[in-house]
Amino acid sequence: MHVRPIDPATASVSVHVHMEDPESLCGKAQPTMVVKGHKGWSLLEVAMANGINIEHACGGVCACSTCHVYIEKGEDQISESTEAEEDRVEEAPGLQRNSRLSCQCMIKGDGPIHMRVPSWNRNAVKEDAH
Ligand code: FES
Repeated sequence: MHVRPIDPATASVSVHVHMEDPESLCGKAQPTMVVKGHKGWSLLEVAMANGINIEHACGGVCACSTCHVYIEKGEDQISESTEAEEDRVEEAPGLQRNSRLSCQCMIKGDGPIHMRVPSWNRNAVKEDAH
């Protein structure tokens, strides 16, 4: 997946990101961040473009469950889950009713969207050194 750069002048959707392990996910002791995104972008793209390191082992093609997040508010502001996503997210640890794969959550409304990134999300898959 290609993470597109966000132009702050045109980004208009507010995404509130709550992080259980902020220092590992964004390098700051800041448990909540409000970042900007665009309609049509995935929540994974918004997070990555704003320095929040959500694991995404398959590159955002719905072939893993490492980008698992919880949508705490604004589920009507993002695309509905597909059958393929539902099948994948069931493999994620800590499954809840509000579990989603962030790479599959496309922003469709004006926000706000509240997303929680669990600490086990990061570094779920590591490549061995070659
Ligand atoms: S990055 Fe693999 S399903 Fe989202």
